[in-house]
Amino acid sequence: MNSIKVFSPASVSNVCCGFDVLGFSIDGFGDELFISESNSNKVNIIKVNGYEVPLSNEMNTASVAAQSMLDFLNINSGFDIEINKNIKPGSGIGSSAASAVGAVYGINELLGSPLKKQELLKFAMQGEFVSSKTAPADNVASSLYGGLILVNNRENYNVIELPVPKNLYAIIHHPLLEIKTSDSRDVLPKTVDLKIASEQLASIGGFIHSLHTGDFDLMRLILKDYLVENYRTEHVPFFKEIKNISESNKAICCSISGSGPSVFSFVKNYNEAIKLKSKYDEIYAKNSVEYNSYITGLDSKGVHSL
Ligand code: HSE
Repeated sequence: MNSIKVFSPASVSNVCCGFDVLGFSIDGFGDELFISESNSNKVNIIKVNGYEVPLSNEMNTASVAAQSMLDFLNINSGFDIEINKNIKPGSGIGSSAASAVGAVYGINELLGSPLKKQELLKFAMQGEFVSSKTAPADNVASSLYGGLILVNNRENYNVIELPVPKNLYAIIHHPLLEIKTSDSRDVLPKTVDLKIASEQLASIGGFIHSLHTGDFDLMRLILKDYLVENYRTEHVPFFKEIKNISESNKAICCSISGSGPSVFSFVKNYNEAIKLKSKYDEIYAKNSVEYNSYITGLDSKGVHSL
């Protein structure tokens, strides 16, 4: 095999209560990468279709991630990458992460899988650092593993794949506007009040318990974000309106996806997802804002070859 086509999914990070540590992948929506061995001795981005991202090998998240992996493996081979960039940068659904993950996964496959999935993570993160110096691993781990994950941001980036109740669905709305992660992090406080930290601990602990027990009532009660949502609400167009609709329709939760401007909700079955999605659609349509929207189960596949 000297070429491969890879699909790497978009993802929602934070998931209400897990700032920088929780994330899930979006079923069927993501970037595609065509990777082939070349005669050069480095990773080259040869073409990007779709949304605009840097073409320079030093600035593109896919080439930086892949090159760091080859350097680690001490491999001099070259690879050409063409990207179908379907995820808009600055979307809050893991655009830079998906391309970085796709590149390291694809090249690792072409090399006969010398590295395990967990080992790919730190190289994909080298790509993330090109787009944001303080990037956490939540989107990268989600694209790599699929499903719903918990990741730490220490050197080993340990990932836990969480169980997901069968009928849990997420609705994601992505207005086609751009918010840079770094700008969205700048509005956050540098320190946290102990009372707020304690609320957040109860929220994440309760959420994880509800995943194991399939208790949607507990999930609705406990799943809240005390750490970041309030600071970002004003910057995310229509979030307040969407959240009001979610609360009046008794959705399980509604929050900002990553650093915005995308937003997401959890609901307890597919029919509810369809109904609520059309109500959210109306908000964007009424305000003449272009958007994409998705419904996904929480057990979708991570990066894979096509
Ligand atoms: N979790 C990050 C944030 C975004 O909320 O700033 C994605 O890594």
